[in-house]
Amino acid sequence: TSMVTVDPGFMNTASCESQITYIDGDAGILRYRGYPIDQLAEKSSFLEVAYLLIHGELPTADELSAFEARVNRHTLVPEGFRTFMGTFPVKAHPMAVMASAINALSTFYPESLNPFDDDTVELATVLLLAKARTITSYLHRRRHGEPLLYPDYSRGYVEDFLRMTFSAPYHSYDVDPTVVDALDKLLILHADHEQNCSTSTVRVVGSSHANLYASVAAGINALSGPLHGGANESVLQMLTAISENGGDPKQFMERVKNKEDGVRLMGFGHRVYKNYDPRAAIVKESAHAVLATLGQQDELLDIAMELEEIALNDDYFISRKLYPNVDFYTGLIYKAMGFEPAMFTPLFALGRMPGWIAQWREMMKDPQTKIGRPRQIYTGATERNYVDLANRP
Ligand code: CMC
Repeated sequence: TSMVTVDPGFMNTASCESQITYIDGDAGILRYRGYPIDQLAEKSSFLEVAYLLIHGELPTADELSAFEARVNRHTLVPEGFRTFMGTFPVKAHPMAVMASAINALSTFYPESLNPFDDDTVELATVLLLAKARTITSYLHRRRHGEPLLYPDYSRGYVEDFLRMTFSAPYHSYDVDPTVVDALDKLLILHADHEQNCSTSTVRVVGSSHANLYASVAAGINALSGPLHGGANESVLQMLTAISENGGDPKQFMERVKNKEDGVRLMGFGHRVYKNYDPRAAIVKESAHAVLATLGQQDELLDIAMELEEIALNDDYFISRKLYPNVDFYTGLIYKAMGFEPAMFTPLFALGRMPGWIAQWREMMKDPQTKIGRPRQIYTGATERNYVDLANRP
């Protein structure tokens, strides 16, 4: 007699113990290493949060500047790596290119692969944080037929990411501090979210002692789906479709409630949050601020707010405890910054990088870790004899 029970979607299975991120889904609370997400979003910076998630404590001023300098030093990618990324079709989805590029890092940095040596793991950590930024900016540029730009070490991680992404060749580029702040905040909000689909993937792949790049590349592929990170791109497609169909959110919501063609209100609902996603509240405020400072108006924001208003007052959504999640308003901010929808999920991946790394490192050090190998309950045929081709009906 087997003790095995099926738990679809792992609704009731804790796959590990962890000290990194705390979520109380009923109260709408999210903390990294004990620090409330709103304090980190308001006061910290993305690389500082990366350090906190990975090393467990906020860095001292010296530790932070050493960490930043080390990440900066690894910003460049080898010429062959750039060529490799350049060979994908221009219209290729950037998430597929990103997963391939991150996976390929192991072939360019074989000295950074030993998962059991602390210095080597720290090197792989810094390499990933540095290269992910370069890769993401090149994902945008190659779609526009533009060359990869060299880094400017005098600028911060997020500021130089924006410059490398949007600066025209041979032109100086003034990065708007409001945009830098807003993107820094978004990356912090995405930096970790405990055992979500992509992070669980990273841990399961890593549990076989696959290297950090292979594990994170698997996480990027998991993130690409529309029920996970891909939702931020899907939200914008949904808002655009509503706008092009005459801009009537009520009609769209009827289709969602009737589950017509399986259509869902993208950017709504969450496995753990049964209350307003605390990240969504910060993002919504930021969307208004960014659009106002950039002097932009976007009717898609009005449509989004109308959808939210309808949902928060409708029994279908209330009874199922469906609230906006982090992805609902992020696309509108990325769009205002000049990113096209295909780039939204790579931006999520850039933000999630510290979380994947921290979780992989915690798992590798955890004496409880075993190779991830779930069981099943077999429901197929019982034993039967092979039938020769000539004797089959
Ligand atoms: N629109 C309409 N109905 C929904 C939605 C939605 N967005 N989300 C859940 N429901 C319904 C679902 O049909 C089901 O109804 P019923 O009880 O009648 O069958 C009920 O709510 C429970 O849904 P579920 O699919 O069993 O819940 P889950 O915990 O397995 O799924 C989810 C969570 C996030 C995949 C789901 O809410 C969803 O598909 N949301 C839309 C996609 C999205 O925004 N994903 C981003 C998640 S947050 C950040 C990230 O991971 O990237």
